[in-house]
Amino acid sequence: MPTVTENLQFWSVYDWKLEGNEWNVGYGGTRAAWQFAILPRIQRFVPCDHLLELAPGHGVWTEYLRPLARRVTLVDLTPRCIEFCRSKFGEENMSYVVNDGRTLAGVADSTIDFAFSWHSLVHAEHEVMRSYVKEICRVLKPGGMGLIHHTNYGEFAAPRDDRPAVPNDHWRGVDMTAEKFRNDCAEFGLQCVYQELVPWGSLEPVDCFSLVQRPRPGQQLRPAVVDENPFFWQHIRLGLALDCRYREVPVPIPAT
Ligand SMILES: C[S@@+](CC[C@H](N)C(=O)[O-])C[C@H]1O[C@@H](n2cnc3c(N)ncnc32)[C@H](O)[C@@H]1O
Repeated sequence: MPTVTENLQFWSVYDWKLEGNEWNVGYGGTRAAWQFAILPRIQRFVPCDHLLELAPGHGVWTEYLRPLARRVTLVDLTPRCIEFCRSKFGEENMSYVVNDGRTLAGVADSTIDFAFSWHSLVHAEHEVMRSYVKEICRVLKPGGMGLIHHTNYGEFAAPRDDRPAVPNDHWRGVDMTAEKFRNDCAEFGLQCVYQELVPWGSLEPVDCFSLVQRPRPGQQLRPAVVDENPFFWQHIRLGLALDCRYREVPVPIPAT
């Protein structure tokens, strides 16, 4: 069970020499991950004024997100990661917070237009995600949006009559599920707009991207649309194939 303490210990001594690019090999590299996995899911919400990235590690996504916001706030549990990001991205239009792994203390109420996290909170248990749901609701501006990658592994951690348990090969939170995320959103007044359940190292949908919105005053919460996408990885490969096809077209006169 990856606790906050275990996460802090693990990421503090992790060998960051590849700076997070090592997790993007399966997409065809970091640029492909950004272009074909992340950007299509967030492009309606950027550019924006103030973007929060939760758990940036060494900032592989910050590099792409930074030009898409007037101001970026990075929050991470591991001091070493925040120090690295500070030296990489500097102070201009950037804010940095080392947090307790549960709250967004240091981020003011109703100040964030778009909250983002990818590849990180999959290692968080339900108790942590529940706290972040509440905190994301607090820091988003009314109408502000968020896309949060978390795990749904809790649905598959134990065997059932019709199938064995799915091995926890990717250090997922064992008691976290998409349903718990939706329920927490409803409890804390955050609109869970859409959940995309995706496979991760197995055929089962063990991970989830949740799109959330802080309601505007008077806006009623509605049930989330929940959608399983077994073709998540195939979509990325189709995007890559198209990209390669056009990259290789010989252009007789260099384009201006
Ligand atoms: C697998 S790395 C991913 C980093 C980055 N998102 C990427 O894709 O390269 C996990 C990051 O999440 C951070 N982290 C883990 N648990 C956290 C928590 N509960 N709250 C905040 N940050 C956390 C770690 O410190 C680390 O920087």
